[in-house]
Amino acid sequence: MAETTKTATLTIDGQAFELPIHSPTAGPDVIDIRKLYGQAGVFTYDPGFTSTASCDSTITFIDGDKGELLHRGYPIDQLASKSHYLEVCFLLLYGYLPSADELEKFENLVTRHTMIHEQMHYFFRGFRRDAHPMATMVGVVGAMSAFYHDSTDINDQHQREVASIRLIAKMPTIAAMAYKYHIGQPFVYPRNDLDYASNFLHMCFAVPAEEYQVNPILARAMDRIFTLHADHEQNASTSTVRLASSSGANPFACIAAGIACLWGPAHGGANQACLEMLREIGTVDRIPEYIARAKDKNDPFRLMGFGHRVYKNFDPRAKVMKESADEVLALLGIENNPTLQVAKELERIALEDPYFVEKKLYPNVDFYSGIILDAMGFPTSMFTPIFALARTVGWISQWKEQLADPQLKIGRPRQLYLGEASRDYVDIEKR
Ligand code: SDX
Repeated sequence: MAETTKTATLTIDGQAFELPIHSPTAGPDVIDIRKLYGQAGVFTYDPGFTSTASCDSTITFIDGDKGELLHRGYPIDQLASKSHYLEVCFLLLYGYLPSADELEKFENLVTRHTMIHEQMHYFFRGFRRDAHPMATMVGVVGAMSAFYHDSTDINDQHQREVASIRLIAKMPTIAAMAYKYHIGQPFVYPRNDLDYASNFLHMCFAVPAEEYQVNPILARAMDRIFTLHADHEQNASTSTVRLASSSGANPFACIAAGIACLWGPAHGGANQACLEMLREIGTVDRIPEYIARAKDKNDPFRLMGFGHRVYKNFDPRAKVMKESADEVLALLGIENNPTLQVAKELERIALEDPYFVEKKLYPNVDFYSGIILDAMGFPTSMFTPIFALARTVGWISQWKEQLADPQLKIGRPRQLYLGEASRDYVDIEKR
């Protein structure tokens, strides 16, 4: 971190405390409060971390007001149109765009780690067939620490690298197996002659009874969806991975924790909830009823796929996703898909409504993704597993960055205690 000269002065009961201010490459300055409790005997208070920077990072930058998202400095719209997911994985992991030779070696390495230990197939058999695929993924990814003992030592750089490649390579296989198990079809093994996105589609939709040809349009759309979900700064699931890792937990346990956090409908579960909401709305004439409910303080209903803690302008990923939805559905000959029509009209109405305008609520990454995934043939229960698959590289990149940080300490927040003051135990006879 660059040396700082700026300071903030905090005065408490007439006593002044100087707090260093650090300036970033981009974004707001930060006030360094690490020594505050030791100097002033007070905590800061920020439930939900709306004004708190938990770490420094060089991986991803978001400007919520401009609707800007950069991965290692490269804008997401350029990566989505000019790059592809495994190249973005290399960029996030190592900090630069690879040479052709480096990219080929990386892609070969990932390709040759896509199979999972054969014994892990038995894990799936312990789940109910109607278990949500996210429940299966949390369980199986956590169980990887019971199989890959040669890549659990976080203090060994080589083992960290092996664990990183294994997780990126095996997540599509695990997600596809969770899907196949859920629908009662046999597992389909990964194939080394297919690219990453095509391999995932093949493992999901191929059956032993006949050849399955991956549609290149869907493969390109799938790859773009992976890229759009790859990383997103210190969101809830990434912060979960960082906090889990700060205790020294192994990488598979940390990523399983991230998957569990992502599952929530306020986070990665929103893509499933959004498509279910669009289907419940059903027709354009019912949109005003749902807009009214979203604005009603007494109604817990929220417009899924709308709003964001950071973006107070369009989520740049939603823009690319919307273009991709138009392109994919047109190429599939279903451009008049009723759900897409409802989504577009809902977006138009919401963005003209004073409630959404003043609260700066825009469509986020989850608003259009479900429409594309539905058109590809995925059930809504597979939407968040696909998000988790794509976000694994972001979690891993942030995990590696934190482990390399000399300032690394176990994360241990404090609290504002509002409970009972100290009191003596009362024997039951006297209560
Ligand atoms: C992801 O953090 C990330 O980067 C996450 C993510 C990533 O890539 O990792 O981008 C992925 O999680 C995207 C978000 C997906 N979630 C949804 O689409 C669920 C619906 N959205 C909301 O639940 C909400 O917008 C959040 C959770 C996304 C953000 O919540 P905040 O930042 O805590 O904001 P808030 O709840 O305080 O809302 C501010 C105001 C509130 O009204 P007031 O109390 O000020 O009167 O806006 C209202 C909210 O009621 N509001 C909404 C709304 N979202 C916020 N009202 C109606 N519909 C909504 N969707």
